[in-house]
Amino acid sequence: MAKSQGRLSTEVGGLALAHPLMNGSGVLGSTRQQIGTMCSWGLAAVVTKTITQYPRSVSRPPNILYLRELGALINSLGLPNPGVERIGELVEEGRRCGLPVIVSVGGSSVEEYVRVASAADEAGADAVELNLSCPTTPGYGLDAASSPQLVYRIVREVSAVVRAPVIAKLGVSLRVGLLELAGKALEGGARALTLINSVEALAVDPENLRIALSSSSMGYSGTPILYIGLRAVYEVFREYGAEVIGCGGISSWRDAASYVLAGARALQVATALMLSRNPKAFVEELLKGLSSWLESRGFRSLRDAVGYIHRV
Ligand SMILES: Cc1cc2nc3c(=O)[nH]c(=O)nc-3n(C[C@H](O)[C@H](O)[C@H](O)COP(=O)(O)O)c2cc1C
Repeated sequence: MAKSQGRLSTEVGGLALAHPLMNGSGVLGSTRQQIGTMCSWGLAAVVTKTITQYPRSVSRPPNILYLRELGALINSLGLPNPGVERIGELVEEGRRCGLPVIVSVGGSSVEEYVRVASAADEAGADAVELNLSCPTTPGYGLDAASSPQLVYRIVREVSAVVRAPVIAKLGVSLRVGLLELAGKALEGGARALTLINSVEALAVDPENLRIALSSSSMGYSGTPILYIGLRAVYEVFREYGAEVIGCGGISSWRDAASYVLAGARALQVATALMLSRNPKAFVEELLKGLSSWLESRGFRSLRDAVGYIHRV
């Protein structure tokens, strides 16, 4: 895909992007081959699976529910990933395809976040996205970043040692308010925020009188969380004017346009890509729709539309 798509080109966290669309972490992104596959979809950047210091295997099945009629998933996969030693090849493959690579970084302590982010930085990542919000893995993500103060420390300590822009990925939590977390992430040095992660959820199996997956730490994603993500972006943009990557429930150009109007300069899609039979055609169609919409509404560029509903 050409470097500049004209009307759709954008910038977030210091990254210049040909258009706003990238994958959400967790769609492929664990191996060189998977990064190569995603490169062929026409995305503006690729995001790796969240990487922790040591490899992690997938949680015991059942660990995912496909709710196709809702365009949704519930998963408790538990952050399976190849560990820090494989970051180099993931970055190299994205680079080979000519795309910016964002390495998603996980941890169970401030030190682990710093170690993994430093490895990503040394490998030449174009940005690191700190996963401070994964709800599916006890001790990681939401748990590791369970207070505004911890979010501040993780972001600040990572920002102090890496050259690449730091993006903080936050979500809605049953425990801590998003606005407070966002404020602390920005204060700690985050150049941009990705909003939102999958939402803490629980599926129950009434026939068998038990929870439906092997772990109660489940994340809900896809179409049903669209309006939750939009509200999160709207509130954070209104409060801080922050640079935001909108994520959650995007499956059409209308959803993408809504995120842009709410304040997002870039977009991530996870579940819709996972459920799509033809991700390349999905990306093409979404971008075509977004571009036509901008033109039809009289916006000369995507930048002009970012946060527009806050100004009318
Ligand atoms: C199967 C699956 C795995 C995911 N793995 C990660 C991950 O490793 N790191 C992360 O930050 N988010 C992960 N996510 C969350 C997505 O990146 C995204 O934030 C969330 O699903 C909302 O977007 P969506 O509605 O487009 O799926 C995962 C989501 C799913 C469905």
